[in-house]
Amino acid sequence: MCGIVGYTGTVPAAPVLLDGLAKLEYRGYDSAGIAVAEGGKLQVVRRRGKVAELAHTVGHFDLTGKSGIGHTRWATHGRPSEANAHPHVSCAGDIAVVHNGIIENFADLREELSQRGHTFRSETDTEVIAHLIEETYADLSKGASTTSEASGLLEAVRLASMRLVGSYGLAVMSSKEPGVIVTTCKDMPIIVGKGSDGAYVASDAIAVIGATRDVVFLKDGHLARLTCDDIAFFDGYGKSVTEETTHISWDMDVAEKGGYPDFMLKEIHEQPRVIRDTLKGRLVAGHLEIDELDMTAEELNLIDRVYIIACGTSYHAGLIAKEQIEGWARIPTEVEVASEFRYRNPIITPTTLVVAVSQSGETADTLAAIRDARIKGARVFGITNVLGSPVARESDGVIYTKANKEIAVASTKSFLGQLVSLSLLALLLAQAKGKMRMNQIRLIFRELGDTAEQVERILADTSAIDEAARACVDATSALFVGRGMGAAIAKEGALKLKEISYLHAEAYAAGEMKHGPIALIDEGFPVIAIATQSPVYDKVISNVQEAKARGALVVAIATEGDKEIANHADHVIYIPKVRDALSAITASVPLQLLARSIAVIRGCDIDQPRNLAKSVTVE
Ligand code: M6R
Repeated sequence: MCGIVGYTGTVPAAPVLLDGLAKLEYRGYDSAGIAVAEGGKLQVVRRRGKVAELAHTVGHFDLTGKSGIGHTRWATHGRPSEANAHPHVSCAGDIAVVHNGIIENFADLREELSQRGHTFRSETDTEVIAHLIEETYADLSKGASTTSEASGLLEAVRLASMRLVGSYGLAVMSSKEPGVIVTTCKDMPIIVGKGSDGAYVASDAIAVIGATRDVVFLKDGHLARLTCDDIAFFDGYGKSVTEETTHISWDMDVAEKGGYPDFMLKEIHEQPRVIRDTLKGRLVAGHLEIDELDMTAEELNLIDRVYIIACGTSYHAGLIAKEQIEGWARIPTEVEVASEFRYRNPIITPTTLVVAVSQSGETADTLAAIRDARIKGARVFGITNVLGSPVARESDGVIYTKANKEIAVASTKSFLGQLVSLSLLALLLAQAKGKMRMNQIRLIFRELGDTAEQVERILADTSAIDEAARACVDATSALFVGRGMGAAIAKEGALKLKEISYLHAEAYAAGEMKHGPIALIDEGFPVIAIATQSPVYDKVISNVQEAKARGALVVAIATEGDKEIANHADHVIYIPKVRDALSAITASVPLQLLARSIAVIRGCDIDQPRNLAKSVTVE
């Protein structure tokens, strides 16, 4: 959940680190800090709050050192404070560490290190790493034997990391080895790359691509030693290895707002492009093809059960896909929150397909669920937005959602990319199982493509959405209701609203309202109803009437041309007509805009809502 960055090169490190941290801030924004090698010492500057505050403080120091490491934090162990901000340093202040992840055995290590005389200055799990490395480095300096090709800081980090239980992406410096940064990782991403002015390390390529697009995704347990001129790689035994380079092709403008007031709005507007890109090249000679899944039609045909595992918004994409996979391919499908799936004993056989959906490809619970499913013998497909991410690496096959980097914490364009990718997967399964005629599959594929233009039309006029937002803004709570597809869409609408506007929101299958939640409704209580044309439209209207009869302020998402709905709703947001199975793609867009509009009026931080971070890399 945290962002880490490191640089060693020919120009002053502090501005490079601050720039990198600003790009990584979406990963956590409770506190930030840097350590720079300065005149034979490590100068550490840390601040509670956002990177801008750190930058302001750094401005008071005259930092000229050309190597350093930086961190932006999402608090796990220890509240957000300057003392708990990274980098953390050893007793002597000569080792500095930044860390993304969780050290599960930190309490034991802390106890052990304290007994040996180490003094701790923070409540974090990370600080034990600095002290462990300090001790190991001292032992090595006294001539402790080692079997590896590595030495000095590199070897100290290698040996110390062998004592860590948990997950980590680390960048480490020592004042005794100026200009050297050592990095290693386990279950957390680390990217390294060499630019014209030096070497870079970060937890996300976005902090590196300004300098180089050819990067190495460090393998679990491997290490890299960065100097101004070189990056050397080592395996977990300290043996020198060669790593494969990946070219990152996305545009630099993903890191810019491009004239929009916030990333969320920019990303909402990118959705038509995402739909088109995700579909590109998938229909070949009249047949659907997803080669990356690396399964023959015969193997696909054997699948008799699907589990979709994911968290948050990605879980909602799974709920929508369940309807498609069951409806089109007739395969029983379960959708499970990854944090529950990993601790259950689900029924998995060799013909079970597990589909893991994760925008970031880093979500700890989803990753754990993937590992568990594979051990149990399932085939795992990953659907992710991030090239080379852990989900991509650990799945048997992967579909990339082509959303490009998503910066706003609230997922929007990646969600639409997931919906389109999962629709393709459902159609592919239907094709392999012969459950639909090919001309029907081609028709739905065309209609999927048409949603790009339909979303453009929704984005072209948002006046009804803004008006509905103004009507809801003084509420303290809201209900989102729908049936069938609409019930799943409602869940995503409610999540978006609470996530960015801090309004309490709940989603219910509309038919369930009368079993409890209807008690919440009184005069002016907002009920957002997904009332698009579907086989259950009439039933939804009945539920809307029940809410209206109790004084609800009803906002309906309805299909263009539906005159009836205006008789029951206070505000109607019309969207183009699509088949029900694809309705989530269009109906989600006004809900994203509604949540954002309410959050803007309430003065909330749209891109970085409180308490949240973009990647949830802890359990
Ligand atoms: O990266 P992932 O898709 O695995 O993330 C899962 C959730 O943390 C994420 O969808 C979260 O719910 C979003 N911030 C919602 O907008």
